[in-house]
Amino acid sequence: MSRPRAFITREIFPDALEMIRAEVDAEVWPDELPPPPDVLLEECRGVDGILCLLTDKIDGDFMDAVGPQLKVISQLAVGFDNIYIPDATRHGIPVGNTPEVLTHTTADAAWALLLAAARRIGEGERAVRAGNWRTWHPLHYLGQDVYGATLGIIGMGRIGFEVARRSLGFNMRVLYSDIVRQEQYEAQLPMEYVDIDTLLSQSDFVSLNTVLNSSTHHLIDAEALGKMKPTSVLVNASRGPIVDQQALYEALRDGEIGAAGLDVTDPEPIREDDPLLTLENCVIVPHIASASVATRREMSRIAAVNLLNGIKGERLITCVNPEVYI
Ligand code: GLV
Repeated sequence: MSRPRAFITREIFPDALEMIRAEVDAEVWPDELPPPPDVLLEECRGVDGILCLLTDKIDGDFMDAVGPQLKVISQLAVGFDNIYIPDATRHGIPVGNTPEVLTHTTADAAWALLLAAARRIGEGERAVRAGNWRTWHPLHYLGQDVYGATLGIIGMGRIGFEVARRSLGFNMRVLYSDIVRQEQYEAQLPMEYVDIDTLLSQSDFVSLNTVLNSSTHHLIDAEALGKMKPTSVLVNASRGPIVDQQALYEALRDGEIGAAGLDVTDPEPIREDDPLLTLENCVIVPHIASASVATRREMSRIAAVNLLNGIKGERLITCVNPEVYI
């Protein structure tokens, strides 16, 4: 009997790949860059399972073209806005993701960006490397204090909560906004549930920790940025399109807000001529918030288990559309 087939859209940790190959004939896309959409489709035609990344767009037409034997889509990421979930559900295909395991690593990275943007770390580092460290000056590189400041978190989920928890050491007041009040988190940490306008106008640091969907797309636009304090720092370790990037550029350029720390941009990678790259008060890293050795290894393992479970018709350990099982 022939073995099931899978396509894996990028290199993953070897132990996870071995686990897959023990049961399935798996092809791995070998390049560093994602397969172009038409190539991805050709590679996936006829497979039983796909292990994909947030850079691979997978919609209903794609699923139809892959064929009716497709049993699982296993995403190596917690976010899954690249996959059209209603289409997957309509096709009866479970979609897996990798939540929980990356929560602490991502919250750490949000804090790294917050501190770097607040204290002008990127700018200072660039100056040193360019030979521009000429003296200690009382008025050079003045940033914002974090200790005792107000932190506003938009999206109080697992990662938002861990961003909030890390603020305890900085003695911060924590505000949060979300579509519903998150009492289970309020029970664990002092935090105030406020509307988004209050959060924007009162916070010294605003951390975006929400999912990308039609109601969060450009949630932070020119109007929202206009409500923030001129000294405030915006941190985005969620998804780029939550922020209107042109509006952010203008707000940073014109001093409407103080600084930004971005793990994510729109598009990704950021275009070489994006004006944000000309600003000293914007720290940008290449979508690496979950990139620790242990976390990426565990993400690979979970994605592998989801792929295998789906191919075998077993329940995924983390499924974003459990309604397929009803
Ligand atoms: C990364 O952005 C993820 O969603 O895991």
